[in-house]
Amino acid sequence: MPQIASLKIDEKEYPLAVMVGTEGERAIDTRKLRADTGFICYDQGYGNTGSCESAVTFLDGENGILRHRGIPIEQLANFSDFVETAYLVIYGELPNREKRKEFGMKLRQNAAIETQMQRIFEGFPTSAPPMAMLSSIVAALAAHYPQLATNNFERDLVNFDLAAAIAISKIRTFGAMIYRYQKGLPYVFPKQELPFCDNFLHMMFSDPYTEYIAEPEVARALNLVLLLHTDHEQNCSTSTVRTVGSSAANLFTSLSAGICALSGPLHGGANVGVVQMLQAIYDEGDDGTRFIAAAKMGTKANRLMGFGHAVYKNFDPRAKIIGKACEDVLKKLGINDPLLDIARNLEQAALKDDYFLSRKLYPNVDFYSGIIMRALGIPTSLFTVMFAIGRTPGWIANWREVASNPKGRIYRPRQIYMGPVKRDYVPMDQRA
Ligand code: ACO
Repeated sequence: MPQIASLKIDEKEYPLAVMVGTEGERAIDTRKLRADTGFICYDQGYGNTGSCESAVTFLDGENGILRHRGIPIEQLANFSDFVETAYLVIYGELPNREKRKEFGMKLRQNAAIETQMQRIFEGFPTSAPPMAMLSSIVAALAAHYPQLATNNFERDLVNFDLAAAIAISKIRTFGAMIYRYQKGLPYVFPKQELPFCDNFLHMMFSDPYTEYIAEPEVARALNLVLLLHTDHEQNCSTSTVRTVGSSAANLFTSLSAGICALSGPLHGGANVGVVQMLQAIYDEGDDGTRFIAAAKMGTKANRLMGFGHAVYKNFDPRAKIIGKACEDVLKKLGINDPLLDIARNLEQAALKDDYFLSRKLYPNVDFYSGIIMRALGIPTSLFTVMFAIGRTPGWIANWREVASNPKGRIYRPRQIYMGPVKRDYVPMDQRA
């Protein structure tokens, strides 16, 4: 028997349908609310609004659960790799051997960047913010491949497999190119025979005389960092991709918008903030007390970076995995990073502090990912780009859901207007 909710406004009652997801999540369907009652729902920041039905990722923030297409993140972190998880997230199933090979081949074939596109970088100062460069060049993919980016769902879905492979593979290559461009180094071309992460490290660190060959631990650690970022339900950047995609904008344009959304320090930029914060604590010879005291003042500018999450109110399961991997990777690589000790101390201190406990503020995935990336030789300035490389499959899967939904409508929220009421235009010479 389906549940019905009821809303009483003054003396009148309105029945509202109840929706139940496959994991038992419940929602009150308010789509007809305005038409039936004249009211809209007010939910600034959409913290309590389900904007779509999705079959990609299940997240239970109260219990620290994250599953992609039903498979727990802990199992994927243990047994899978980034490319396989990307396939799972995009296509809904783990690939069999043949499909995995085919997908890997598509990524390998689309890794290189054509000379015309390389020249786009030359229009940027070498000091340009990496995420600004990345979002621009990904938007440029729509200009470079107009046949895959027609802004028509049906036509773009026909070419979806190729567009998705181009996006995943080239966003990775762009990341390495941005690094080299900023350092004034010549680009290193991808090698078809290398696996995804090894190829990235090769494009980052090889030079004309010495080829960089990634240690297996290094490639594995990078795989883990990317895999843990593959998708995360309706976060700021993913819902941006869906919003832009809902206008029938093509995949590349929608991804570029997602990259812009990710660049903010309260979202993907947080991993940079964490390392800057840990470095400042180290430089000051502080034990973190000053940062904790400042964070407790409650201003956005002084937040403890890498702590808190919009939906996890228990712990971030990715943070558990990455915190443990961080220690293992540093040990295996023989790296002694004082920032890891500071991070551990800060975590312990915050977890004993009533301010953080009462607000359910625990370390998030970014708290440790930066320390791993430092150990792999990835500079802080590139951290958010690494997040974008990891998140690309999740954005793609969400864009595909929007594009394939025959009943989908354009994302167009409403507002409560709080500005001046109607008034007349005042000519210039009569203005105060
Ligand atoms: N340090 C100190 N106080 C914090 C922090 C923090 N990191 N995060 C939240 N708070 C406090 C707020 O000041 C607020 O306090 P109040 O109730 O006294 O006003 C309370 O906790 C709730 O804060 P909200 O802003 O309502 O929490 P919200 O869930 O909206 O924010 C966010 C989540 C943006 C992630 C926030 O915790 C934050 O800014 N963290 C630091 C940045 C960060 O690490 N971002 C990465 C997120 S993970 C990701 O994108 C992969």
